[in-house]
Amino acid sequence: MDFELKTLDLAGAAAEKCDVLVVLVPENFQAGKDPVSALVSAALAAKDLEPKPGKLLQAYRAQGIAAPRVILAGAGDGSGKRLHSAVQAAVASVKSSPARRLAILVPPGSGADGVRAAVCGTAESSYVYITTKSKPEARELKKVVVCVADAATDREAFVRARAAAAGIEFARELGNLPPNYATPTRLGEEATKLAKAHGFGVEVLGPKEVARIGMGSFMGVAKGSAEPLRFIILRYEGGGKGQAPIVLVGKGITFDTGGISIKPSAEMDEMKFDMGGAASVLGTFRALAELKPRLNVVGLIPTCENMPDGSAYKPGDILTSLSGQTIEVLNTDAEGRLILCDALTYAERFKPRAVIDIATLTGACVVALGGVRSGLFASDEDLAQQLQQAGEDALDPCWRLPLDEEYAEGLKTNFADVANVAGRAGGAVVAAKFLHRFTQNYPWAHLDIAGTAWKGGNNKGSTGRPVGLLLEYLLAQSATGARPAGKDAAPAAKGKPSTKGKKGHAAA
Ligand code: BES
Ligand code: MN
Ligand code: ZN
Repeated sequence: MDFELKTLDLAGAAAEKCDVLVVLVPENFQAGKDPVSALVSAALAAKDLEPKPGKLLQAYRAQGIAAPRVILAGAGDGSGKRLHSAVQAAVASVKSSPARRLAILVPPGSGADGVRAAVCGTAESSYVYITTKSKPEARELKKVVVCVADAATDREAFVRARAAAAGIEFARELGNLPPNYATPTRLGEEATKLAKAHGFGVEVLGPKEVARIGMGSFMGVAKGSAEPLRFIILRYEGGGKGQAPIVLVGKGITFDTGGISIKPSAEMDEMKFDMGGAASVLGTFRALAELKPRLNVVGLIPTCENMPDGSAYKPGDILTSLSGQTIEVLNTDAEGRLILCDALTYAERFKPRAVIDIATLTGACVVALGGVRSGLFASDEDLAQQLQQAGEDALDPCWRLPLDEEYAEGLKTNFADVANVAGRAGGAVVAAKFLHRFTQNYPWAHLDIAGTAWKGGNNKGSTGRPVGLLLEYLLAQSATGARPAGKDAAPAAKGKPSTKGKKGHAAA
């Protein structure tokens, strides 16, 4: 899908040649003297259109409007969130039609939020999974023209939104792949492909190398699977040699049966999404490739299956982690923390300025926060604030939960330094406290995305979250994010992202 940003007012939009014209109509809609305004004003006056988000009114061959199909979409108070819902609803309503060319008229004054809503809302709503269908019905939409009052002002927001949409979609597609396709080996290949295409560093380690490093906890989880584990290291170097990197660590369990502490079979298929953290790291790198901010970012992905087998790890086993701490496995279904703890220790060698892990870690987090907000835990106040803000700005919100020492009480055991589970109470916090032990040497945050990485039921599928949040955070951290367009601005600020396998601003 191709996006274009264009300066067009209501009159211009009426003349725009496209299959569908979407007009976002907030409560304070400012009518002009043009056919689109006439249509909107008449519909509002007759109360046939309510400016509430999600409400749609469609017109066919309306007078004076070039597009055969016009969708008026209520956008409530005109906030980013409402505009996003309006775009989603409008695009969903044309999803099964043959429309190829869409124009979206963003209300003047809605700025970056409006542009983001148009781009990301369209990408999200028009996505179709086709990879493993024998007669795929692919996305019909080919071209989306985002119409704003002044394209020059909105250019940077547009370039960012387009990169975010690409990253989110990449994560979504990986998440949706069946577990016999998205194996640890395949994730390694995807990382390599991404790195080769965009010029970042990549290493994909296998069982032998991981054993040599000493990741005994990670290895314990992988033991019961016929699929060999992978440890993926991605490096984006846009910030120059001396700059401490931000490390993203993604849980990459490509299928979680629970192991010997096996899960009930109902909905077990959804445990293919247990690599959502890994997918979000890859998706974020996909977006970085386009924007090339002045920043160093390392991606670490421990990936394996959690299977029951004659060689599987079992309750009572003691694993020796890379940190040297010994861990008693009391439940093999608490495997995410066991692969993450070794990656978190490994992260120390990058002397990071912050480490953020992203994991579909606990059912308890789903109980606590549902599918609306990801769980956020942080040992550093600034980092917590930055991530919270990024979540709000990107409409990919999180909610902070505590890390009091008392929550770690239940992890005590007679047989090792720490157990991998405690009682059921406060399960999301207990899991975070387990990870906390391995993150003492840098500012750390943990995002529990068990409730937000995918949707179940009729709309079953990956969401691509929290790529939006992570990208927003990284851009806010980079000089590029704050820098206005100018002579020495980075490519992203000039709106001409280069994607030709260059290393960004390694020397800047
Ligand atoms: N991948 C699951 C967490 C999960 C469960 C995410 C359901 C989304 C929906 C994780 O590996 C797990 O099994 N966690 C256990 C931990 C427990 C054994 C302490 C859980 O949440 O039940
Ligand atoms: Mn599990
Ligand atoms: Zn899991």
